[in-house]
Amino acid sequence: MKAVVIRKHGGPDVLSYEDVKNPTPKKDHVVLKVDYCAINHLDIWVRNGLPRKKVSFPHILGCDICGTLVDDSGSFKKNEKVVVYPAVESGVPRVSYSIIGAFGKYQGGYAEFVQVPQENIIRKPPWLTDEEACVLNISYLTAWNMLERSDCKKNDTMLIWGANSGVGSAAILLAKAKGIQVITVASDIKKINQAKKLGADNIIDRSKSDISSEVLKYTKNEGVDAVIDHVGAKTWPISLNVLKIGGKMLACGTTTGSEATINIREFYSKEAHIIGAYLGTKSQLVSLHKFMKLKRIKPLIDSTYKLKDARQAHEKMEQSNQFGKIILKI
Ligand SMILES: NC(=O)c1ccc[n+]([C@@H]2O[C@H](COP(=O)([O-])OP(=O)(O)OC[C@H]3O[C@@H](n4cnc5c(N)ncnc54)[C@H](OP(=O)(O)O)[C@@H]3O)[C@@H](O)[C@H]2O)c1
Repeated sequence: MKAVVIRKHGGPDVLSYEDVKNPTPKKDHVVLKVDYCAINHLDIWVRNGLPRKKVSFPHILGCDICGTLVDDSGSFKKNEKVVVYPAVESGVPRVSYSIIGAFGKYQGGYAEFVQVPQENIIRKPPWLTDEEACVLNISYLTAWNMLERSDCKKNDTMLIWGANSGVGSAAILLAKAKGIQVITVASDIKKINQAKKLGADNIIDRSKSDISSEVLKYTKNEGVDAVIDHVGAKTWPISLNVLKIGGKMLACGTTTGSEATINIREFYSKEAHIIGAYLGTKSQLVSLHKFMKLKRIKPLIDSTYKLKDARQAHEKMEQSNQFGKIILKI
């Protein structure tokens, strides 16, 4: 089969389009013909490599998969369309789980076929196209998990970093559907206009404005009920600073680094909560599908690349040149 393989860690040039062996069916696993695989920032972490995180080479990236079943399996029939819940038990003490196509033992979806545990497949929601369904398993699921755990209700206020990112654009769409007042951050006029179209109430241009002062201005000096922070080291101090008393900071990412300096006194004196989010559960993925159907939400897709052009897709994400999800058509 055709696949995009990495044989070592490095830049986009380590992504190699080649012929590899098809997966051999294993007990309690299913093989899917991959139709679409979305790109996530996680793919860049895996491609680059992270300290103490192992990959056995050659490795196939890709954890956001929509595909077609090659054979009957349990109540699923051959040729049924499914999506893949990407988390599997890590087997490592105190580490919740590993992710298919990322660090861990499973090859991913930058390939014509992929093998995944039977228990990880979910029927593709029929109200979504294959392209739309493939983007929900990582960034949308994590955004949904953070929204649920924020306990934010209609008219509560939320700061969402990175309007154009997978996680940020997902969080904006889902938060607006819950009636939350959304303040978001973007870095140029094109992204600001797209964030407006997505429904954000206030957009801060991070290339020009002091973000803390802007958030305080929009919240009449009170601060926000919650912040969704996937950016990490550079934004944590601001995220904590703009929280109101008792506010919640939901953290899932470290795009700008994993070691932040925060003001601990500020944190405890405002009785803030810092909540970590690692994907979400399989039942949360199902509840996300239902919520999106109920609220008629379509995920935002930026662009679609052919599998052989995975390098260009990675480059686009690394330049933060997207608004919404980048996907591969297999
Ligand atoms: N914990 C989990 O389960 C989980 C799940 C999904 C994602 N994540 C993590 O969440 C992060 C986002 O993932 P993604 O796929 O959505 O990434 P992405 O689409 O590549 O987006 C990256 C975002 O970071 C923003 N950014 C970069 N530098 C910034 C800075 N100095 N200040 C403010 N914003 C900055 C970019 O905004 P500009 O365009 O304005 O630069 C862009 O919006 C990644 O670190 C990913 O690994 C974690």
